[in-house]
Amino acid sequence: MQDKVAILVGTKGRGSNMLALIEACQSGQVPATVGIVIAPSSDSPAIQSAVQKGVPTIVVEPNEAYAEELLKAVRGCTVLCLAGLMRMLPQEVLDAFPNRVLNIHPALLPKFGGSGMYGMHVHRAVMESGERESGCTVHIVTPVYDEGPIVVQKTCRIFADDTPETLAQRVLALEHDAYPQALSMVLRGE
Ligand code: GRF
Repeated sequence: MQDKVAILVGTKGRGSNMLALIEACQSGQVPATVGIVIAPSSDSPAIQSAVQKGVPTIVVEPNEAYAEELLKAVRGCTVLCLAGLMRMLPQEVLDAFPNRVLNIHPALLPKFGGSGMYGMHVHRAVMESGERESGCTVHIVTPVYDEGPIVVQKTCRIFADDTPETLAQRVLALEHDAYPQALSMVLRGE
């Protein structure tokens, strides 16, 4: 039986990493099935894209029953992929999936991670610091934000005429390669 993956998207996320993971599973590039897409709100634009791909979706609101509801939603899954979810998962959920919760970050961790480092803030900070390269990181989620063992990193150059927006686009394209690759590695136990 193939591994089942749960993808947790954010409230406002485009869901492009979610789509990259779904497509990689559906094409056979990643030996797994996306069992469920979980969104924190019914407004999440990613829900429609998941439905169009034939993947079941569920809204789990971060209320007092968050941990319990999440654990129910991911029953039968062996890996959780965070794709734009901007909150820490409850400890009970992390404990139920040791080394099997992945996150993607749009910079080369451990630099440019942690509190306040999300979305365009990351790319602005990277450019302001005069870095000559950036990229993305897929890592195992631990209780500390943006820390945890790195599974895959992909890098790109920063050019003199880049803006945070052009850099964000280049990094996003890397993310769509890195996430399926990292998921395959984790499924193979690497
Ligand atoms: C990505 O940049 C990812 O690195 C970060 O959140 C963003 C989600 O984008 N964690 P998308 O919704 O997958 O397009």
